[in-house]
Amino acid sequence: MSGRKIKDLSLHASGKDRVDWARQNMPILRALKQRLSVERPFEGHKIGICLHVEAKTGVWLETLIAGGASIAITGSPGSTQDDTAAYLVKELGVEVFAWRSETFDDHMENAKRVLDTMPTIIADNGGDLHHLLGKDDKYKSLCDSIIGATEETTTGANRLREELPSFAFPTIIINDTMAKRIVENRYGVGISVVDGIMRTTNIMLGGKTVVVIGYGYCGQGVAQRLRGLGAHVTVVDTEPLTQLEAHLEGFRTGVLEDVLGDADIVITVTGRNAAIQKQHFDLMKDGVVLCNAGQNSSEIDIGSLREMAVHEHTLRPKIEQLTLDSGKKFFLLAQGNLINLAGGDGNPIEVMDLGLALQALSLECIALSADTLNNEPQCVPHDIEQATLKAALQEWVDKSHA
Ligand SMILES: NC(=O)c1ccc[n+]([C@@H]2O[C@H](COP(=O)([O-])OP(=O)(O)OC[C@H]3O[C@@H](n4cnc5c(N)ncnc54)[C@H](O)[C@@H]3O)[C@@H](O)[C@H]2O)c1
Repeated sequence: MSGRKIKDLSLHASGKDRVDWARQNMPILRALKQRLSVERPFEGHKIGICLHVEAKTGVWLETLIAGGASIAITGSPGSTQDDTAAYLVKELGVEVFAWRSETFDDHMENAKRVLDTMPTIIADNGGDLHHLLGKDDKYKSLCDSIIGATEETTTGANRLREELPSFAFPTIIINDTMAKRIVENRYGVGISVVDGIMRTTNIMLGGKTVVVIGYGYCGQGVAQRLRGLGAHVTVVDTEPLTQLEAHLEGFRTGVLEDVLGDADIVITVTGRNAAIQKQHFDLMKDGVVLCNAGQNSSEIDIGSLREMAVHEHTLRPKIEQLTLDSGKKFFLLAQGNLINLAGGDGNPIEVMDLGLALQALSLECIALSADTLNNEPQCVPHDIEQATLKAALQEWVDKSHA
């Protein structure tokens, strides 16, 4: 049995069912698996991964394993499916270090456990594995045996380019592709965030005033889908051009301090820390719902809100009521973790078929030709992006018209 730290191995059967359903709807990865099982590009490589431990990821791991890889993985706080984790350990022999209720500190310990397995390739999400490799003395020497990496998301790309040291290996940034930004971030996240809020709260969104903070690729999708359901959407973004874009798209826009007072629901999706700070809670009305769709719960200063609260009570799974001395109530969803994954099943399966195919092909590129790439963060090679988009068109458009 592989190394592991998961909730309960006996949950593996329902995990298998979940992965079976996801696989059924992931034709791009299924085709890739067939080819990789013949060519075995990952033979001899251990891939150390930080990505949500859920069913779609499971299908992707099957693809990498068919290509010869051995795998160690951790996820993110709040997003792990414990039964999927059990399936990955029991039936695929993956080393999994993740459970649904893990805190951010647990998560970083699990990221260390992944690096302790001595991976030769890294697939990161949010930059946490790169952070340890660049900043933790225990792991710096591991960089000598790592041939290359991928990074999945906006937050990790920002960290790699703005705050982490340079590495002696290439990192392919999946989020640099327009394929991911538009298909996954705009359309996938837009739908799944709304789904996560509805599943968690069971409230009607039509007629509600919703403030969306951050109008990047993800925020655009979230704002559009909410509007489609009849919500009154106000967009806040610190970039003037982006505010203007939201205005021209027909959204109400404004400065955070001016618009918070009307909000029934506030959603952060900036990819940056502290979009909502302590002083902003004073401006919100009694009963406001708070949630986050960005990579880290740190987009909302939850620590200050908890300090201010005199009473905390969990009303439903993933709805915490925090009450101030004045009697004012805040309803925090999923502890500020990604609401689409913590409150739902994450992005639609087909969207992740495309996104994880970009990942698999980028990892294959690392395994076969890392030495031809520059040792810096870089976009997915153009031919990989094109091939993945064509495969999606074939599956989603051509076959549906056949
Ligand atoms: N939930 C998911 O499944 C999922 C999927 C993909 C990406 N993400 C995450 O969502 C976040 C956003 O990603 P994106 O691709 O939309 O990023 P982006 O860079 O395209 O957009 C972020 C926007 O937020 C704005 N912004 C930054 N700080 C702000 C602040 N304090 N107040 C208001 N606006 C601010 C920026 O100007 C920008 O327009 C990232 O953390 C990313 O990793 C989540």
